[in-house]
Amino acid sequence: MSSQKIYILAIESSCDDTAAAVMCNGKVLSNIVASQKIHEAYGGVVPELASRAHQQNIVPVVDQALKKANVNKSQLSAIAFTRGPGLMGSLLVGTSFAKSLAFGLDIPLIDVNHMQAHILAHFIEEDDFEKPPFPFLAMTISGGHTQIVKVNSHFDMKVIGETIDDAVGEAFDKSGKLLGLGYPAGPEIDKRAKLGNPKAFPFTKPKVGGLNFSFSGLKTQILYFVQKQVKINPNFIEENLNDICASIQYTIIGILIDKLKLATSDTGIKHIAIGGGVSANTGIRQALKDGEHKFGWTTYVPKFEYTTDNAGMIAIVGHLKFLQGDYAEQNVMASSRLKI
Ligand code: KG4
Ligand code: ZN
Repeated sequence: MSSQKIYILAIESSCDDTAAAVMCNGKVLSNIVASQKIHEAYGGVVPELASRAHQQNIVPVVDQALKKANVNKSQLSAIAFTRGPGLMGSLLVGTSFAKSLAFGLDIPLIDVNHMQAHILAHFIEEDDFEKPPFPFLAMTISGGHTQIVKVNSHFDMKVIGETIDDAVGEAFDKSGKLLGLGYPAGPEIDKRAKLGNPKAFPFTKPKVGGLNFSFSGLKTQILYFVQKQVKINPNFIEENLNDICASIQYTIIGILIDKLKLATSDTGIKHIAIGGGVSANTGIRQALKDGEHKFGWTTYVPKFEYTTDNAGMIAIVGHLKFLQGDYAEQNVMASSRLKI
């Protein structure tokens, strides 16, 4: 019987990427992302432009996901969508689309928390990728999020630390902007950091209690530092760009690793899974690997396409909720500040 196979169509539209994926029994058959280039000109995401682009992209992106998976709409078991957190206008596009499609096909609708999805991306069925054992710690680091979460089971998660201001990706992007780098600046800082001296310019780490993070002070510190140096030498940035990037990255990694050390000692859990766009950073990956030798950690990094915003991660949550019969009603509302 075809009921042995669970097909989920998932839609993600929380920020500036319109994404759709088709999953069969936990395996991703297609994972399509339409990135919105329009925001680059503004140095950050413009919410109104994002929702308009979602409206344009959603039909072709879903169509492409079904075609690539070679799955017909009539085979679908359920529609999963990102309910929040995210930009309200963007969420509304995905939510309304998912509701209508589930209603039209008369199949279950499943609402997904985007932050849970970043973590449960580790449970997508993939060859050669080990899943973290429960309980584990998850660190979600991106342009919109910075959290450490204690994960007891698929749906029993507790946020034990998070940023009180900027996300770590914003620290990369805003520092990059000060240096005249394009948006998003994270990948460029990463590239230049490899060529520079991480200890050239010592920046101080913020003093934030417990497992919470703060990155806005670092940005201000870098701003004042650069302004002061440029007064002395107008070519300071150009002449020292690699060293500045290396020093910024070194400081940010130090902040993340310090908090992870504290989280592992507080909880006694040494299995650490990461996710979010910033986990692409080579320095962070190396620091986590070093942590395996230095502190006895076991670290888990998913495939790159499942770390940045994508619908594969929404599909796995849809699949797991489908197994539990945990469906949403047609009157479910998008929620921009949805909590784990
Ligand atoms: O997960 P993501 O694609 O989108 C959301 O923000 O949700 O993450 C994008 C963020 C940006 O801030 C970008 O600068 C950062 O991830 N990023 C990096 C690297 N690649 C992307 N930051 C540091 N090093 C990288 N290699
Ligand atoms: Zn995200």
